[in-house]
Amino acid sequence: MELQIGIVGTGWFSKVHGDILAALDGVKVAAVCGTSLPKAESLASRYEGSKGYDNLADMLDGTKLDAVYLCIPPHAHGTIEAELIDRGIPFLVEKPLGAELDIPLDIYSRLQASSKPLIHSVGYHFRYKAQTIKLKELLEGKTVGMVLGCWMGDMPQVAWWREQSGSGGQFIEQTTHIVDLLRYTAGEVEEVYASYANRVVHEQYEGVSVADVGTVTLKLKSGAVANISNTCVLPAGVGEVGLSLYTDQGILSWSPDLLEVSLSGEKSTFRIEDNPYRAENEAFIHALRTGDTSGIRSDYGDALKTQRVTWAALESARTGKPVQINNI
Ligand SMILES: NC(=O)c1ccc[n+]([C@@H]2O[C@H](COP(=O)([O-])OP(=O)(O)OC[C@H]3O[C@@H](n4cnc5c(N)ncnc54)[C@H](O)[C@@H]3O)[C@@H](O)[C@H]2O)c1
Repeated sequence: MELQIGIVGTGWFSKVHGDILAALDGVKVAAVCGTSLPKAESLASRYEGSKGYDNLADMLDGTKLDAVYLCIPPHAHGTIEAELIDRGIPFLVEKPLGAELDIPLDIYSRLQASSKPLIHSVGYHFRYKAQTIKLKELLEGKTVGMVLGCWMGDMPQVAWWREQSGSGGQFIEQTTHIVDLLRYTAGEVEEVYASYANRVVHEQYEGVSVADVGTVTLKLKSGAVANISNTCVLPAGVGEVGLSLYTDQGILSWSPDLLEVSLSGEKSTFRIEDNPYRAENEAFIHALRTGDTSGIRSDYGDALKTQRVTWAALESARTGKPVQINNI
């Protein structure tokens, strides 16, 4: 049976997911919902037989869908997920879960209260990378002492990103991938302390309310400590993204394209070409077809733990005090 998928959002990432879905056997991008009909129809025209809508309820009433993808800015979450949960329609939602914490907490409680478990997935795609799987394998039997991570780059040129209320800021919107990877490889976070500042970007563009530099110290439940820093002051095309784990047996340094390992005096590198977005989509589609969700590596409850940490960092930067994750 051909699966009918709807997409909410008509931007860059809707197209990335839509193109992957359209190339999978037995999967059809059947409908697209945007903030305007011309934008929705324009994206829908990429996919054979797909229909555009400018309203979620109209899309759900007008096309029978097996699942919906949410590729919308952080500030736009809430009512869309609530409607899908009410109607019992599975969904894949892009990270982050929201610009703050209140809406993700509400959606999670709605998911828990629904009469039967709803298949869903969250777009933390680094979890599907072969390098990440290798990293987790190599970490077995080693004690992590500390971890250093970063997301150093330029400012994405979409209007909502530069507004605090639109994106939640870089640590919540972008560096969340690295926080999620820290949790996935080194375990849960107990406490965070953050310092943020505005150095450059607010003088380059109108209406910037997000910090453009930040450093966050994290204490882990295991006793390990970590620092994850980020900036968006760099010129386009310059930057680095990664996570390095310092263990009793050596260093494991992960970046999106490379895993470098220096263990017991021996150095090795792993560069595995793969498409984690495709793997993420295949796991979700497999779950829709079979009910087997074991291939989904990030569900809402787990992603909410990452959102708690990134939001706690924002709260710490606002108050100047450490924030205990259990207290929020
Ligand atoms: N996992 C990843 O690697 C990855 C990569 C890129 C983007 N993303 C995430 O995907 C999301 C979308 O990013 P993007 O780059 O496509 O942004 P974008 O600005 O290109 O597109 C966002 C779209 O959402 C639409 N939109 C806004 N409010 C809406 C609403 N209330 N209802 C319906 N549509 C609405 C906009 O009109 C726009 O079409 C973001 O959360 C981003 O973090 C994830």
